[in-house]
Amino acid sequence: MNLCQLVERFPSEETLCNQPRPYFNHSVEMKSVFTAAERAEMLESVGLNVFYFPAEMITGCDLLSDSGTTAMTNEQWAALHTGDEAYGSNRGYFMLADQIRETFGEEFFSRPVSGRPNAFIFHQGRPCEDALFTVLSRVGSNLIIPSNGHFDTTQANIEANNIRAVNLFSPELKDGESDFHFKGNIDIAGLKRLLEESGDRVPVVFITITNNTGGGQPVSLANIAEASDIAHSYGIPVFFDACRFAENAWFIKQYEKGCGNKYVWDIVKEMFSHVDGFTISFKKDGLSNMGGGLFLREGGLFVRRYPHIPDALFNYQIMKEGHPTYGGLAGREIMALVVGLRIVTREKYLTHRINQVQMFGQSMVERGIPVLTPAGGHAVYLDVNRFFEGTGLGREDYAGISLTALLLAAYGHRACELGNFALGSYDEKTGKATFPEVNFVRFAIPRLRYERQDLDSVVEAVHGLYENRDGIPAVDVTYGKELRLRHFKARFRFRTGKAGSR
Ligand code: F0G
Repeated sequence: MNLCQLVERFPSEETLCNQPRPYFNHSVEMKSVFTAAERAEMLESVGLNVFYFPAEMITGCDLLSDSGTTAMTNEQWAALHTGDEAYGSNRGYFMLADQIRETFGEEFFSRPVSGRPNAFIFHQGRPCEDALFTVLSRVGSNLIIPSNGHFDTTQANIEANNIRAVNLFSPELKDGESDFHFKGNIDIAGLKRLLEESGDRVPVVFITITNNTGGGQPVSLANIAEASDIAHSYGIPVFFDACRFAENAWFIKQYEKGCGNKYVWDIVKEMFSHVDGFTISFKKDGLSNMGGGLFLREGGLFVRRYPHIPDALFNYQIMKEGHPTYGGLAGREIMALVVGLRIVTREKYLTHRINQVQMFGQSMVERGIPVLTPAGGHAVYLDVNRFFEGTGLGREDYAGISLTALLLAAYGHRACELGNFALGSYDEKTGKATFPEVNFVRFAIPRLRYERQDLDSVVEAVHGLYENRDGIPAVDVTYGKELRLRHFKARFRFRTGKAGSR
């Protein structure tokens, strides 16, 4: 008997419950040592705004964002050295063009000889949004852009151009009991209603994959196809906000009927076959620390409906970012991004990545901590309303802020409030506060950065806070309550006295 035959007598490696990571550590960074008292003092000095807390002082996990926080692979670090810093048409530009065609489809990056450009590189996601909505705002008045869930900067860039941003969250997202796997879907009935009533005011329909504002939840292929057919029947183009496209495709493979045997990269192509363009921040599923892009389908509905827009974008990009062949990025950053895009659709990588997030969510559930289930692809979202149920804390107590501040000061883990404060608003003139439909604290997991032990420690810390939630006081906003994008700027103070008292 040879060794191959002998091996076959034993359970296969796939049957092991504990699968090894599909990578090993190549280089690590040692953390500094800080005490809870030192962190508390520092956090207080920055008005409890976790964005201003020095990252160097984070002794636990930094789960503020999964954006630009990827640990790069050795191939990416090596690729940096092959970056070409030429002012025009650097080597990486051509490699990126090939990679975009390969990952998303030929039509999204025309050959340079074809004349009018349809691919625009930017330094991150939001300048793509700025460019797109600036040029789109000129196509009509009283415009509306619906989405399954606009990200906060997307919404801000839409509104900055006097366009109304509408979120059509799926009904399942609001149902805490539902175990539906595609809670990121766009609400089809809501979309039909909106287009029936005001279709002439909708220049484009946006679908965010995965739906970051909607709990990081994926969108099904069926939903993408249906939304796209509906919008197209009104002559309205469809765009992806594609930051986490590969994670979304992985969910489709796992949970959508008929997709289990497809390759992730084929699912990606199928997803993108339904849209007329997309914006993307490569700081997520580009596995890069910087980069973004805006891509229009050659011959698609968007460029047919707005034939002047590619030129308008061309001008805008040159004015704001630089020549389209580098678009606000260093040549070396483009190289790292090309390699990142090659890695991100690998199934072993994605399975490990998303299972890590799922296990983290599952551990929270096992400890009784109320989180959105099933967990999304890049983050676990804690339901602040359920967490503080029965404590007497109300909407204007911004308990999500209290929770993130305590978690950071006491345990050294950083998360971020994405709820009543970040997504709400306050009108100084009327004294009226608005609140979003969802009230979360988000634990975003950087890619390839933490191990299970790190995340288990977060669960333990959050559980400790949950057990003692009656002792968590409200916060007062000492600065910035009325400001736009206020969570990035505001300052807070713990309210003294009884928890929840005014
Ligand atoms: N769209 C989505 C869905 C996003 O999640 C983000 C960023 C952007 C657009 C903007 O991209 O940061 O490169 O300008 N999300 C990060 C986060 C910041 O923490 O969720 P960017």
